Amino acid sequence: MNKKIAVFDSGLGGITVLNSLRIALPYEDFVYYGDSAHAPYGTKTDAELLQLCTDFIEKLIAEYDIKCFVSGCNTTTSRIWDELNARFPDYHFAGITPAVDWAVAENPGKNVLVMGTNATISSRRLNERIDRLKKRANIIPLPAQDIVPAVEGGNTGSEEFRKYLSELLAPYAAETDAVVLGCTHFPFVKKQIAECMHKKVRFYDAAVIVAAEVRQLLDTNHLLNPGGKQGNIIFLNSDPGKILVEEKLLKEYEHQ
Ligand code: DGL
Repeated sequence: MNKKIAVFDSGLGGITVLNSLRIALPYEDFVYYGDSAHAPYGTKTDAELLQLCTDFIEKLIAEYDIKCFVSGCNTTTSRIWDELNARFPDYHFAGITPAVDWAVAENPGKNVLVMGTNATISSRRLNERIDRLKKRANIIPLPAQDIVPAVEGGNTGSEEFRKYLSELLAPYAAETDAVVLGCTHFPFVKKQIAECMHKKVRFYDAAVIVAAEVRQLLDTNHLLNPGGKQGNIIFLNSDPGKILVEEKLLKEYEHQ
């Protein structure tokens, strides 16, 4: 039996990362773990995040043969990454963080809106990166925490959500050139974000970056599965009612 890649998130957002991983690594087997019962993560303390992640990682290790953990959660990677890695020294880890460097490189001197959860936007990791890049573009961090429950609850088509998003983005709608989707739940509402902007904006989602990193990591450590047979996915969630939603979202997202 091939070892698996475990991808995790606070809930459904990491499906957007799983999609990129599947494209980059078609022969790999995945376990997807969504912690929807405890979402959102973006309003939790670092101690709470570390405890939640430790609990399900221990469970995954006990039940599956895992070769690599991938955080499909910017919040986790931005807040508790070193501590979490230190708890599991025998495993390879890779994690998504907002694609600020990429957006700034392609939009020098322009307005780059960085959207994320409260915890990501206030994180030292992100703010140190913004400080390093701020001479090269006008970087505007924007917490957009309420997108997360709307995605988790399947309410992104509602009038209430449209109103929330348009009010949130109104101050930036005229001037923004690029939007960093710094939370993995946000690519699901990229179209709605685009509709709130007064001009065409470019979107940056680091899922493709983390997928390339995982591929490199497995290759370097001689852990890639041999080609030939399409890999499979096991969907798990702390809220069992969300397992079918994960499958459905991946199918819909694949075809976007
Ligand atoms: N999807 C996660 C992220 O990328 C967490 C969202 C949340 O639960 O607040 O940050």
